[in-house]
Amino acid sequence: MTDGAVTRTRVGIVGAGPAGLMLSHLHHRAGIDAVNVDNRTRHEIETTVRAGILEADSVRLLTETDVSDRVLREGHAHEGIALRFAGESHRIDFQALVGESVWLYPQTDVFTDLADARARDGGDVRFGISDTRLIDLTGDRPAIRFTDADGAAHEVRCDVVVGADGSHSMCRQQVPETHRRLFAKEYPFAWFGFLVEAPPSAPELVYTHSDRGFALISQRTASMQRMYFQCEPDEDVAAWSDDRVWTEMQSRVAGPDGFVLREGPISDQAVLRFRSLVCEPMRHGNLLLAGDAAHTVPPTGAKGLNLALADVRVLATCLERALDDGDPDALDRYGLLALDRVWRTQHFSYWMTQMLHSLPGGDHFDRRRQVAELRSVVDSTAGATYLAEGYTGWPRG
Ligand code: PHB
Repeated sequence: MTDGAVTRTRVGIVGAGPAGLMLSHLHHRAGIDAVNVDNRTRHEIETTVRAGILEADSVRLLTETDVSDRVLREGHAHEGIALRFAGESHRIDFQALVGESVWLYPQTDVFTDLADARARDGGDVRFGISDTRLIDLTGDRPAIRFTDADGAAHEVRCDVVVGADGSHSMCRQQVPETHRRLFAKEYPFAWFGFLVEAPPSAPELVYTHSDRGFALISQRTASMQRMYFQCEPDEDVAAWSDDRVWTEMQSRVAGPDGFVLREGPISDQAVLRFRSLVCEPMRHGNLLLAGDAAHTVPPTGAKGLNLALADVRVLATCLERALDDGDPDALDRYGLLALDRVWRTQHFSYWMTQMLHSLPGGDHFDRRRQVAELRSVVDSTAGATYLAEGYTGWPRG
């Protein structure tokens, strides 16, 4: 309900990325009114290149809740990945090990599908807002105040506020330090990511350990690919000509099997900083945090979006119980339920990261030990199954 500068709704969501939009979509299906606000424009979100792997449950969430089935038509099921080390590739066969696949489908497409579904269903989503402030989070009249895209002051009054506003979350910062604990880990490296105009170099993702550092070969379409290599956190993108990138990439993947990357013009270069972070609890009064606002994982394993979708699936149910059934404990149950997957995923992303990246100051011992760890994973059904379970996503609890 909108009355001039005030909108009344039940769930006010800061953030209209995939997590925020999926939450309002699920609420819409349950008959709960919600409003999303985001300081980015739709165009900005749609044109920021992000990761591209969806767990099977993320795909089911998109298709079974009627967001869109485009992922099934335009995405690509991947039944495994390759771990490449000592110059040789070793396939982890997800289907054979756990009977699941992942889907190559860029996060920007997930966002577009959700934004279209919200528009189709008459959802109230305000992009391009500014000056967001949260009011009365621990009282009984919580609200989100902001300046809308046309410069007018606006207030969304709600029962609860959800902070789904990404890793630099303004909402997280509203929780007094005395009421939250941040568990954080910094990594002494980053990824240099780029798009390549060329055919795929491999049919599935190739996670590569080499003496020169990590490299990841991912895909997008028949003519566009996505790749990454480990770099310094303060790496200067401008210092990397296409030639220099290709020399580095080719040397990281080279091996006796003669694997070479198919080269092409490079675009969208960016340095991705690494960080692991968990904020506990995920609730403060009538504020609930979801997705990157509550936790950040390093990109190894592509868990960020999947974990955010898993959060909102749990959060949607807990909010329904709290708002529709008046269950007083439902808001606290959200964090208790969500944090189990959050910490497993933190461990999985950390584990893949430390197994595959060169540690600054690392010596021959460290590299030999990593190769032994990788061999233990690929040569053991138990090891490979652990990787396959974590990569395709644990069953929803
Ligand atoms: C990607 O395709 O962008 C991607 C895939 C797997 C990752 C990270 C990024 O672990």
